[in-house]
Amino acid sequence: MDFEVTFQPEGTKVKVRRNTSVLEAARRAGVRIPTRCGGKMGCLMCKVQIQDEERNSCLPPKEAERRKLGSLIDSGIRLSCQTVITGDLTVIVPEDPLKAAVRKKLEAARKGQADDFI
Ligand code: FES
Repeated sequence: MDFEVTFQPEGTKVKVRRNTSVLEAARRAGVRIPTRCGGKMGCLMCKVQIQDEERNSCLPPKEAERRKLGSLIDSGIRLSCQTVITGDLTVIVPEDPLKAAVRKKLEAARKGQADDFI
């Protein structure tokens, strides 16, 4: 059985089979999630957010993931390489930090708040 995974904020959708990881689903959907370790839980760069109401659509985090993420788990942060899909799921992909910085500068410049904007 296939499940539909939606990646926000773009709203990109992809169908995947049960037990596919969120990272693999993102790759199939063409959604970029940064990674350096290739899914071995070494880089911690692949964080995504799963909202409370969606948590039944993936397996709960194992102890190793809990240890790596600490209190972030409580706010719905998961490692996409370790999150196994078991139902229709919406995943929030955090904005790239560099993109976020540029976007904030541009917004500030538009509002006339950035005197040092180049
Ligand atoms: S891809 Fe490196 S921790 Fe998930």
